[in-house]
Amino acid sequence: MAIHLRSAEELEKMHRAGLLVWDVLTALRKIVEPGLTTMDLEKFAEARIAGQPGHAAFKGYRGYPCVLCTSVNSEIVHGIPSAKRKLREGDIISIDFGMEVDGYYADSAVTVPVGNIRPELRKLLEVTRDALDRAIEKMRPGNRLGDVGHAVQSLVEQNGFSVVREFVGHGIGTKMHDEPNLPNYGEPGRGARLQEGMVIAVEPMVNAGKPDVHMRDEWTAETADGSASAHFEHTVAVTAGGPWILTRPREVSGPAW
Ligand code: MF3
Ligand code: CO
Repeated sequence: MAIHLRSAEELEKMHRAGLLVWDVLTALRKIVEPGLTTMDLEKFAEARIAGQPGHAAFKGYRGYPCVLCTSVNSEIVHGIPSAKRKLREGDIISIDFGMEVDGYYADSAVTVPVGNIRPELRKLLEVTRDALDRAIEKMRPGNRLGDVGHAVQSLVEQNGFSVVREFVGHGIGTKMHDEPNLPNYGEPGRGARLQEGMVIAVEPMVNAGKPDVHMRDEWTAETADGSASAHFEHTVAVTAGGPWILTRPREVSGPAW
């Protein structure tokens, strides 16, 4: 099985999905505050996409019950929104969201501080966001997957944090998860060569402590050592002109999040 190469027209369709994802995540990020529950965020997202074209990509995916994944503090990914999970000052929350429009998918995530957070957590968010930026910068024709993974891993480990191995970035297009897998570690010059038209959801997952994962339930992945974890993601196309972040408007520039 080969990695799909998307036409300009297909990339535009993915961008359409991506702009809806961006709208929801940027709106959510602004309303996050102490006292809200993760189910409040879910309801907000559902209301925001009502009447929009397409549908939320996660709900119903392998039985997943919600449109958002909301992963708080030591939760790494795939936390399920709950009316019992109230956000408190000092928490961090990863919000992950995907849409499918006209058969094409986009997937993105951002980790947001809840009120004031400890300096250590601020650094964790900054390093993970910067790791995503560095990875995106490597998404150019001729580079290899190992270059992208290495960009994440080297920055993360230099800062004393660790990358999660159990979950990886992924090709995305007419399915949410497609070839290739993109680990957040790797060696420069190794792995499949990037070509124009490839689209990958690049998503560093970074633990403040050890990389090991513990499954709390069927979905919720948390750090085994209880340390905090951050997650930033964009859907990125490899184009002749360089990386194209499909999950934000073209006119937005600067850091990935
Ligand atoms: N954004 C997630 C990912 O790529 C997908 C969530 S899994 C779901 O890994 F089941 F929640 F949809
Ligand atoms: Co993803």
